[in-house]
Amino acid sequence: MLGKYDDFDAIKSYCTLNQINFAVIGPENPLELGIVDSLEEIGVKSVGPKKVLAQLETSKSFTRNLLTKYKIAGNPIFHIFATKNGLYDFIKQLNDKTGYVIKADGLMGGKGVKVSEDHLITVQEGVTYAEECIVNDGRVIVEEKFVGQEFSLMCFCDGKKVLGMPVIQDHKRAFENDQGPNTGGMGSYSDKNHLLPFLTQKDYADALAITQKVCDALKKETGQEYKGIIYGGFIAVKDGVRLIEYNARFGDPEAMNVLAILKTDFVDICLAITNGTLDKLAKVNNTDHANSFEIEFENKATVCKYVVPEGYPDEPVENEKIEVDEKKIHILGARAYYANVDEKKDSDGKSALYLTSSRAVALLGIANSIADAEKVAEAAVACVSGRVFHRKDVGTKELIDKRVRHMKEIRI
Ligand code: GLY
Repeated sequence: MLGKYDDFDAIKSYCTLNQINFAVIGPENPLELGIVDSLEEIGVKSVGPKKVLAQLETSKSFTRNLLTKYKIAGNPIFHIFATKNGLYDFIKQLNDKTGYVIKADGLMGGKGVKVSEDHLITVQEGVTYAEECIVNDGRVIVEEKFVGQEFSLMCFCDGKKVLGMPVIQDHKRAFENDQGPNTGGMGSYSDKNHLLPFLTQKDYADALAITQKVCDALKKETGQEYKGIIYGGFIAVKDGVRLIEYNARFGDPEAMNVLAILKTDFVDICLAITNGTLDKLAKVNNTDHANSFEIEFENKATVCKYVVPEGYPDEPVENEKIEVDEKKIHILGARAYYANVDEKKDSDGKSALYLTSSRAVALLGIANSIADAEKVAEAAVACVSGRVFHRKDVGTKELIDKRVRHMKEIRI
């Protein structure tokens, strides 16, 4: 059934009519609007946090302050400004040392963060963007810039316990070699051992420990238990890991990497989240101590590549027909996941797919190595035709070697 995120009455009627047992909330906007609180009024539990807890994603200042208040490691040097007093001096100070990051406080679809050297060149450009954020949101977060490699660690959380999934590296920039504007994510990969080639077990454990502490702190701060997915965007730096931001949901494209290799029944996990019994589920499934995951995932590498409209993200072509050879994708052993496409009837009465303005279709390769999964994903991308492009470099040996070299250079 099609409907609007903010039409809670329609969503609740649908749940009642169809005797829905529980809901899994996908995107962040309904979480911000309080869909979980609203569904609870009619007795429907959710895999997704209540409005007050979703602030973990919907307010970057909330999250930075939470980590500071509960003495949780991972924050950068940062300051939250509600006026422009002191803004220039703080940005200049950071610019002289590490570089700076300016973050809009609220949800901006991944486009509210601007980084010195990448998006903003001078101190004054940073000040101008920060002032714009204050006008829009009432505040802005100014942070130190980190040098390192980013990774996504998504966890299942029942309000008490967090269980980590395989780690993923996403690619936010539109063009190869991490050039161009930020996007929702152009592609992502994960490795057979559920770590990443540039990451240590300790990095993983440190990131997981931060998320567990955040789960505990949220309970203390709000009196409510966080039930859902906590997605930490981390960066491995010279001397450990730091937190970039949290999302209160699965990542896109990261969800495709992990859910495609999940062995434990997803419904069992959802019920354990809503019932607060993840610890019991973990005991049942804890067969593979070697990789420290307590919910089972296949030991396979994955590479996901998004096919997007020409001109994406700034001036995407719209309403252009694309063709997807699903049969060939199936023969290749790849998977196709549709995102922003419309199915319409052409004049000959046949159904056809049309681009809307955002990421169109994701192609996923699963194999015994990242290199092999990349080949499968790339072959599947070739089965999509139309006015589209994708990042050829995601998951390639060349790109991964570069990431590994970078980490070695900063950790000598
Ligand atoms: N992959 C980034 C996000 O889902 O926000």
